[in-house]
Formats: sequence, structure tokens, C-alpha cells
Amino acid sequence: ASTLGAAAAQSGRYFGAAISAGRLGDSQYTTIASREFSMVTAENEMKIDATEPNRGQFNFGNGDRIYNWAVQNGKRVRGHTLAWHSQQPGWMQSLSGGSLRQAMIDHINGVMAHYKGKIYAWDVVNEAYSDSGGGRRDSNLQRTGNDWIEVAFRTARAADPAAKLCYNDYNIDNWTWAKTQGVYNMVRDFKQRGVPIDCVGLQSHFNGNSPYNSNYRTTISSFAALGVDVQITELDIQGGSPQTYAAVTNDCLAVARCAGITVWGVRDQDSWLGAGASPLLFNGGNKKPAYDAVLNALNAA
Ligand code: G3I
Repeated sequence: ASTLGAAAAQSGRYFGAAISAGRLGDSQYTTIASREFSMVTAENEMKIDATEPNRGQFNFGNGDRIYNWAVQNGKRVRGHTLAWHSQQPGWMQSLSGGSLRQAMIDHINGVMAHYKGKIYAWDVVNEAYSDSGGGRRDSNLQRTGNDWIEVAFRTARAADPAAKLCYNDYNIDNWTWAKTQGVYNMVRDFKQRGVPIDCVGLQSHFNGNSPYNSNYRTTISSFAALGVDVQITELDIQGGSPQTYAAVTNDCLAVARCAGITVWGVRDQDSWLGAGASPLLFNGGNKKPAYDAVLNALNAA
């Protein structure tokens, strides 16, 4: 196959990209995105500050722009993200305790009702674990009680039973890291106790401080063995090494429950890391060596 989406489909997987509403008027960007990808994540437009800028007043303008573009171009959509310590609107940042817990529940219900039946998978909870030590990150949500994550997942299941429900985080790619083990233990506990969870999102932002490690395949297969899908949700590789892109792709292809890969942007100039990091698969309108590496790996599967 000659595109990433079609090549991934040969093994029943998807290949997606983060899309930003502000770039949908750029024809070079939309030409590449429409041709290559089969899954779309809104880079910012379905986050809490974007969708509920005032308590109880929802705004789906930019989220819908991305959703509609995706569907009109034959793509599925991942929802990102419903409960997170970051990108909270000011009103939510100022809440605590029971009122924050209720606001989180209301937010999940409001957003998931709007997109009910339309989303392949939701990142229900994002980045809830600490970068060191394997425990929870301190946040206003965590201070509402340790059960906030399972409450978010139970709320989400009831709101849209058709959506896969994911826990999504960064630096849980390296199997030996305490953060990875902390999330693994949470997912195992949820599966044992019947808390609804369907997938784990490995963000997979690889750089000098958190480089790709060949134990990534063990991480993917270990989560999958708990009975959840694994999705590579925000892949970018500082420097854009084709070898590393191929290795990540092959690691996903090696595990049946690795459902697909999403890169966190289309062209280098679109990346949150800046074009100088050269982290993505396109440079302007041109396919980079990393693109060829990924396409060849998908086609060899
Ligand atoms: O849209 C405003 C613009 O009006 C304003 O002039 C400008 C001034 O700073 O800010 C613009 O908003 C920025 C937005 O990106 C759109 O470009 C925000 O400041 C900026 O904080 C925001 O950054 C996003 C970041 O999440 C926020 O946490 C990045 O685009 C986005 O790529 C990044 O994505 C996250 C995932 O959601 C979760 N995992 C990590 C990943 C990378 O950080």
C-alpha cells in the first residue's frame, strides 16, 4: 500500500495523526492528512478548557470542525481528553473536593453525550501518574480522592458504551520505569475489580531524556496481556530517526492487541516541539526518511 493508513489497514490497524483546527485552511496540511491517515485526534480542541470554558456551558465549535473534517475524509476519531490536571479552565482550577469531583463527572457526561456513538476511543484520564516513584501525580483531581480515576471510567462507560475507554500517559513506554509499573498495576487492578477500561495509550514522546528502548515491545505485550488494547497515541521522535520509527512500528505490529499508531502532528512545522526537533514524518510537503521507514515496516507485516 502507498499510504500509512492503507498500509496499517493491511493488518487491521489504523494510522492516525493529531490535527489542529487552526490548520484546516492550509491545503498542503489537509492534502497530506487526508491522504495518509485513517484516524484523527484533536490536538487541543476536545480538551476541558476548549469544550467547557464556563461551568455548564459547552463549546464544541472547534472540536466539531475537526470531527466533521475527519468524517468527511473517511477517518475515525479518538477523543482527547476528559479528565486531566492540565488545560483545565480557570473555573475548574479553582474547585476542590466534592464540587470538583461533580464538575469532572458533569464534564465527562456533557462531552461524551455530544459525541455519543461517534468516537472510536476516548482518553478518559490523561497523565495521572507521577514522573517518579510509581504513584499518583499530585493534582486537584487526585486530592478529591484516590478513586477519581475509576469514577471517571465508570461515568464514561455509562455515558457512551460504544466508545473504547483509554488511560493515556507519557513515559510509560520503558518497561523498567516505576511510572510504567504504577500504571500497569492500576490497569491490572481495574481489570480484576471490573472497573471498565478497554485500552492503554502509550503517548510515546521519545527524546534524549526518555529515549526509545527495545523493551517497548515488552511494555506493549504486558499491557495487552491484561486484556486491554494498546494504542500508540502521540508518537514523535526527537531527531526523527528512521530506525527508531521502524522499531516502534515493528513493536506495535508484533502484538495483536496493539490497535494502531497516532503521530502527534503532520509536518515538523506543526509539532509542539518545533520544526527544529524534526520529530515527525513530513517536512513541508515532503515525505522524510522516517516516513519511508514506517511505510516499509507496515507493508512488510
Ligand atoms: O491558541 C492559543 C493562541 O490563541 C495564543 O495566542 C497562544 C499563546 O501562547 O496560545 C495558543 O494556545 C496554545 C495551544 O497549544 C495551541 O497552539 C497553548 O498556549 C499551548 O499550551 C498549547 O499547547 C498544547 C499542549 O498540549 C498543552 O498542554 C500543544 O499544542 C499540544 O500538542 C500538547 O499536547 C499534549 C497532549 O495533549 C498530552 N500529552 C502531551 C502532549 C504534548 O505536550
